[in-house]
Amino acid sequence: MIQNLVKRRKVSVFLWLLVLTAVGSVISAVDQNLVWYLLLGDVGVIAWRLATIQSRINPIPEASVDPQDPGTPPAYQPPPSPRPRSTFRPLRVDPVGSSLSAQGALDELDRMVGLAAVKRELNKIMASAQVEQRRRASGLSVSPVSRHMVFTGPPGVGKTVVARTLGAIYRDLGVLPRGHVIETDRSGLVAEYIGQTAQKTKDRINEAMGGILFIDEAYTLAAGRAVQGDFGQEAIDTLLKAMEDYRERLVVIVAGYPAQIGQFLSSNPGLASRFPKTIPFPAYTADELLEILKRMLKKEQLRFVGDQARMDSMILNWLTSRSRDPGFGNAREVRTLVERIREAQAVRLANDPSGDLQAVTDSDIQEALEI
Ligand SMILES: Nc1ncnc2c1ncn2[C@@H]1O[C@H](COP(=O)(O)OP(=O)(O)OP(=O)(O)O)[C@@H](O)[C@H]1O
Ligand SMILES: [Mg+2]
Repeated sequence: MIQNLVKRRKVSVFLWLLVLTAVGSVISAVDQNLVWYLLLGDVGVIAWRLATIQSRINPIPEASVDPQDPGTPPAYQPPPSPRPRSTFRPLRVDPVGSSLSAQGALDELDRMVGLAAVKRELNKIMASAQVEQRRRASGLSVSPVSRHMVFTGPPGVGKTVVARTLGAIYRDLGVLPRGHVIETDRSGLVAEYIGQTAQKTKDRINEAMGGILFIDEAYTLAAGRAVQGDFGQEAIDTLLKAMEDYRERLVVIVAGYPAQIGQFLSSNPGLASRFPKTIPFPAYTADELLEILKRMLKKEQLRFVGDQARMDSMILNWLTSRSRDPGFGNAREVRTLVERIREAQAVRLANDPSGDLQAVTDSDIQEALEI
């Protein structure tokens, strides 16, 4: 019906235009004056334009007419909302924090020699976080979990590397917003003067918020308890509070030798219960260290030439004797050995301009091991 009305309105305006133009022609013919013709003709044209503009501004919706019941007025339908001219894609926002992707982190962990027990523990942690994420996505309840951890083990066994990869994995699983790792030790938490330690510890906590606060040799915080004027306890108290208050946004990992970490956890009744998981990192065997050395050399595009078995046994003997030292640095010491091998090779190549840049010889190894 409305459609008919519109059509009818347009037709009537058109008829008026014709009538006015005709009247204008008649009057101008009678009056011998063309002004009448133009004037009335223009009025008609303006009326036509107004009618068409009006119907464009307020388009009258198409009304469906029921053929069975043409007399029933159709229900009112609101005009369709204007269609957007183009759709915008959301901007890619790179997460702030760890630059390592979770896939890169897993690859790095896979490449690490040994650490079978550590990798098993990490698999459990990742599986729990993944199930938790799926429960949340399905609208199921997720009880809050404390993810603070203890890494025990000697120096150079990959504790820091594992903490970094865990940060990236937690970030990609949505457990932590940033997943970066702030590494610190007593000197980064404890201040010299009274009243300053709480603030210094809070500063580190703020830096680590959204990621992992990794505290190396954490036992040194509790070691000076008997000493008057030691502010380690103030740092521990501040940490304990933050670990409780921000457990959804902060993971604290304390690291150190097993016996010393045990002392640290028993120094304060609240500490042990705040760290539900301990991951032991065993010292590497000499064979594992040799394998780490070979992988490091390969990464540097270096390769042994000469009697491989002789070189292996030379290095294994050296590693076995070095590992008896209580302060032995495991893979970190292997990294230092790689540096010394490169130096020895450089000195040899300095006198041999056509020498193979990738070759590591017997003499380079002997030089590096100072045999
Ligand atoms: N299993 C491994 N395979 C290959 N490289 C390793 C392995 N473990 C450690 N490394 C290398 O050894 C070096 C020291 O590792 P990392 O800093 O993680 O040790 P750490 O346990 O944190 O030592 P520290 O207690 O002294 O801080 C790093 O360069 C790391 O890449
Ligand atoms: Mg470390």
